[in-house]
Amino acid sequence: MAELRRRSMRSGDEAAEPKALFGFGRSAFKKESTSVAARAVTGKSPENGQQKGQLAMNNVEPGNGNNIAAQTFTFRDLAAATKNFRSEFLLGEGGFGRVYKGFLEKSNQFVAVKQLDRNGLQGNKEFLVEVLMLSLLHHPNLVNLIGYCADGDQRLLVYEYMTLGSLEDHLLNISPDRQPLSWYTRMKIAFGAAKGLEYLHEKANPPVIYRDLKSSNILLDQDFNPKLSDFGLAKLGPIGDKIHVSSRVMGTYGYCAPEYARTGQLTLKSDVYSFGVVLLEMISGRRVIDTTKPINEQNLIAWAQPMFKDQKRFRELVDPRLHQNFPQKALNQAVAVAAMCLQEEATVRPLIADVVMALSFLSTEPVGSPAPPAVVVMDESRRSHCSRSPSHSSDDASDIHHNSSSSRSSNASYQEESD
Ligand SMILES: Nc1ncnc2c1ncn2[C@@H]1O[C@H](COP(=O)(O)OP(=O)(O)OP(=O)(O)O)[C@@H](O)[C@H]1O
Ligand SMILES: [Mg+2]
Repeated sequence: MAELRRRSMRSGDEAAEPKALFGFGRSAFKKESTSVAARAVTGKSPENGQQKGQLAMNNVEPGNGNNIAAQTFTFRDLAAATKNFRSEFLLGEGGFGRVYKGFLEKSNQFVAVKQLDRNGLQGNKEFLVEVLMLSLLHHPNLVNLIGYCADGDQRLLVYEYMTLGSLEDHLLNISPDRQPLSWYTRMKIAFGAAKGLEYLHEKANPPVIYRDLKSSNILLDQDFNPKLSDFGLAKLGPIGDKIHVSSRVMGTYGYCAPEYARTGQLTLKSDVYSFGVVLLEMISGRRVIDTTKPINEQNLIAWAQPMFKDQKRFRELVDPRLHQNFPQKALNQAVAVAAMCLQEEATVRPLIADVVMALSFLSTEPVGSPAPPAVVVMDESRRSHCSRSPSHSSDDASDIHHNSSSSRSSNASYQEESD
């Protein structure tokens, strides 16, 4: 029977997935990927004599040829960076483990350290996929993997620190006294997230199906530039004439495309559906699944369907916290894009490139319009970490604690696991 879970589902029996990835590594990136994988699994250095602590890999973009280095860290390095994983430095907790804010003395930078739950091989698979994917894929709208640690049975990932946390924190976890995101900030985030997805779908070769697009996986830098995170569930897309890959249903309940949830057939259009869900969350300020609402409003997509059919009702979809502060024409277009992405029939959903094109017009604020709202108190304090002296002060601690509690108490989406 399907089991409902908070947060992303772990993989259970997708034994083929790492194999497919290694194949991917061999075809597109030659030997380096397999040596990353080997080291990530065993915690040992690769045999090809690469310098310890550095992995050189080719960028996925054809013809780019950049060498990308993902560092390896010891558990000790990361314990030092997070002051022994102090609870004050906890940024949040997801389906795969906890995320802490850390500071790397050597490179003088703040980082986010994700410590995967140590429950055997399952987490290892996501760890491998994440290291491989993020080592090979590079785009301004994808989170940057600084390195990883595979020390004994410890598995940790080290990412660039995203000052403003997740879109979920700003859109869905906000208390009434905090400033909501402005319309244009929402459209800018939607545009950036769509560009990240476009890179995965149309620039990566073979294409990558992200599979876990949701508001908690869209992270924001100090200027609200979005980056997609969490590639542990990503999957290589179909090659040649095939239009889908088969897989066990994974992802987060509510964000999963209906045909994928039903059949396990995964296409690029499954990601387009999830994008539509996030876009509708941004327009409405509502969670895709919210059990605190009246029955007929608990599922955002079902609630929105009748309004999609009648342009005069589009206003009813809008987040009341925007206080009517949005351009009507842009609203009509944004709702139309969301509705197209959310179509039941996968083949008639748009390509993500079309979505990028549409959003590029909606995310440009007209000259002379009022500035977006000031960054809220929590964000200001997060922002100040970047410029302050690089120590874990008590201010840092309270800021992080505030954020983590909001993240953990959130009525997060649920995951459905089916065999
Ligand atoms: N690189 C980062 N910089 C800043 N904060 C981060 C970073 N990565 C994660 N976080 C914070 O940690 C929280 C937990 O992240 P995590 O990815 O573990 O869980 P999730 O996205 O909430 O759920 P899931 O496990 O389903 O992806 C995020 O919501 C975000 O607030
Ligand atoms: Mg996440």
